[in-house]
Amino acid sequence: MKKLQSRTPSQSETIKTEVVCPNDTNPMGILQGGRLVEWMDIAAAVCAQTHAGKICVTASIDEVAFRHPAKIGDILIINARITRAFSSSMEVLVDAFAKKVTGTTKILISEAYFTFVALDDMGHPAPVIPVKPVTAQQKKDYEEAIIRKSVKAKRR
Ligand SMILES: CC(C)(COP(=O)(O)OP(=O)(O)OC[C@H]1O[C@@H](n2cnc3c(N)ncnc32)[C@H](O)[C@@H]1OP(=O)(O)O)[C@@H](O)C(=O)NCCC(=O)NCCS
Repeated sequence: MKKLQSRTPSQSETIKTEVVCPNDTNPMGILQGGRLVEWMDIAAAVCAQTHAGKICVTASIDEVAFRHPAKIGDILIINARITRAFSSSMEVLVDAFAKKVTGTTKILISEAYFTFVALDDMGHPAPVIPVKPVTAQQKKDYEEAIIRKSVKAKRR
């Protein structure tokens, strides 16, 4: 059988849905940021692991933005899409949207870049297959990912 050389972002794109419950909110009924980031991390981990076909750990979470509050009862749609794979690490862009049960309008409430590292059986960084961007947006995200990686590496 021919070995798979690369995968498109669509092949690992992951959508996670949640409902905001009282336990997830502050006393004003607004979704807590930490709970939202936890859900985003799960969606991103599924995306990275689907791309890599390996166990992956979160190495960093960058540029987290909370743009609008979500309230008790809102439905959340969390979309995770890989932008680029490097040697053993991958960048995953996560967008979180909220919508009212009675409405159809989705509002972007948060976004962040997650970096995951694939591990081998010994828990060491392991190689991952490349991403093959297809759409214009995927190609743009792919090109910009290398810039974000080098800026981060310099900061470290
Ligand atoms: C992430 C981790 C595996 C990296 O291990 P390491 O021995 O430092 O790895 P290396 O220095 O060889 O780097 C391996 C890759 O990780 C990337 N990396 C390491 N630290 C990083 C960071 N803080 N942010 C982004 N990428 C990072 C490197 O750029 C490199 O990428 P590349 O192979 O694609 O070029 C290790 O730091 C770790 O286990 N951290 C804890 C992870 C964790 O517990 N997460 C929460 C639970 S899932």
